[in-house]
Amino acid sequence: MDIPFSRWHPAIERRRSRRHFDSNLPIPPETLATLDRVCNQFAPFPHARSRLVTESAESVFKGVVGSYGKVKGAPAFIAFIGDMDDPFVQEEVGYTGEGIILEATALGLNTCWVAGFFRRETVASLIDVSDKEQVLAVTPVGYAQQSESWEEKLMSRFGRSHNRLPLSKLVRGLPGEKWPDWVNVSLEAARLAPSAGNRQPWGFEVQEDGITVFVRTGGPEFNVSKRLDCGIVMLHLEVAAADCGRRGQWEFLPSPQVGKFKMYSQSVLSALTQWGR
Ligand SMILES: Cc1cc2nc3c(=O)[nH]c(=O)nc-3n(C[C@H](O)[C@H](O)[C@H](O)COP(=O)(O)O)c2cc1C
Repeated sequence: MDIPFSRWHPAIERRRSRRHFDSNLPIPPETLATLDRVCNQFAPFPHARSRLVTESAESVFKGVVGSYGKVKGAPAFIAFIGDMDDPFVQEEVGYTGEGIILEATALGLNTCWVAGFFRRETVASLIDVSDKEQVLAVTPVGYAQQSESWEEKLMSRFGRSHNRLPLSKLVRGLPGEKWPDWVNVSLEAARLAPSAGNRQPWGFEVQEDGITVFVRTGGPEFNVSKRLDCGIVMLHLEVAAADCGRRGQWEFLPSPQVGKFKMYSQSVLSALTQWGR
């Protein structure tokens, strides 16, 4: 499935993590069917996949302390699964999962990446997971309660959730005055990406022919790979670039680099246009 960039780009700004859902508002069957189809079809890497589950969502999530901080009331959840033999599994699951999160947002649903506080064994009992695979994260899906509860507000404030670092702290390489418009737009979309505890572990190097994502040193670990966050940022960057008419391809790179989004040359672009892509 090609990235529906004009649908997902506006969802980047609209998406917010929500943890308390309205258990009286079920997801309409046609919305669930669309989400399920996208879960099955948006699978750009062979070793990363998403599964929508419409039962037992309540039993999957754990509180941070007791039941405090727990995701509550969601009618369904999605599991993000990767084959741990793949050296880039974290990035691939982050990239794939964020596509699904943006599709859910475009469908008017609320979500929250959860990589820490969920019961892996419960998820594994609800879906088929092979010996090589691991459920790296889950998200609840549903309609959030109209207003944020005090507990939700506190959880957001703990991670200062809606704050993002300025690009000046994240970018190196080609100076800003030389960036074409698509670079500005794509880096802004990347900056808004969610990360575990809002740690924003990414950095960007702007080059003549593309943008490299790397992991900045320091910052909390939370027992969640920073490369999972970086996969999410890669998807944001590519969605915005595509919406500006710039297409390219990711090349995965060894640590501390993550991947380079390399622009297609003019001849590849013309060929793609000819094939109607
Ligand atoms: C990979 C990943 C793992 C996360 N794990 C959890 C989690 O275990 N529990 C939780 O409440 N929130 C979790 N979050 C949500 C983040 O705290 C949230 O995305 C961040 O604070 C930014 O807020 P926003 O999503 O509203 O922009 C996670 C986010 C990401 C991207």
